[in-house]
Amino acid sequence: MIIARTIDTFKEAKKILTGSIGFVPTMGALHKGHLSLIQQACQENDHVIVSIFVNPTQFLEGEDLESYPRREEADKKICELAGVDILFMPTVEQMYEKDELHIGAPAIRGYVLEGQKRPGHFDGMLQIVMKLLNLSGATRAYFGKKDAQQLALITQMVKNYFMDVEIIPCDIVRDESGLALSSRNAYLSEEEKQRALSLSRSLKRATKRIMSGELDSKTLKQEMAEVLKETDKIEYIAIVDRTFNELQKVEIGNTMILIAAWVGKPRLIDNIWI
Ligand code: PAF
Repeated sequence: MIIARTIDTFKEAKKILTGSIGFVPTMGALHKGHLSLIQQACQENDHVIVSIFVNPTQFLEGEDLESYPRREEADKKICELAGVDILFMPTVEQMYEKDELHIGAPAIRGYVLEGQKRPGHFDGMLQIVMKLLNLSGATRAYFGKKDAQQLALITQMVKNYFMDVEIIPCDIVRDESGLALSSRNAYLSEEEKQRALSLSRSLKRATKRIMSGELDSKTLKQEMAEVLKETDKIEYIAIVDRTFNELQKVEIGNTMILIAAWVGKPRLIDNIWI
């Protein structure tokens, strides 16, 4: 595996790749969720590139940019063992100039839910993903459904800018207790982890109620809020269609239920696609 820390060494390393390229962009502190993206990329492509870059422009003032978990040595081992060809780990200076062109998230889809709670987050996220996709020259790029809005916006960016890469949505990976894997789970104490399970429990409960015929969004959200009382603060419970329009009634095959809630230090998100 080649480790590239500059744009020049990355471009040089890429020259030896022939055939299709699968790309998995990450911010590091890799867990089984990332590993499943990397494994899928390995199965579907001739070569795989992973990037690790804690992107400052997608963190808001007061968020955890400085303390975001960094585990370089462990990440390198995971990538090496998984069969990654190139691990790209650039510095901030390599990726950004002082006075940059900006990409803005779309006015509606980019500013509801996560975009409303974290204004500017998606602008920075799209900016770095655009750069990384362009640099990687990927045939396919892999993103988890856990960041459902991120996935939708990247898919839209690729379409709007006629970018020649296929975006592959990948299922959420959970631990044995049901907690959706996230690098920020590292912040949870044992007690908080137990309370964090209320996110997946509330989604399971809603799914069960939907399967038994309850389609009313208001009722489902009220019931979910009961379960989510175990968290420290619910930021939102949303029932939307696949283009993020609110739904009064669940439409089977076209619905996402999304949650954001605080448990201790981290703000956790989870969702289910119905
Ligand atoms: O999902 C993430 O880890 C990040 O938002 C991404 C896509 C790597 C961009 O920094």
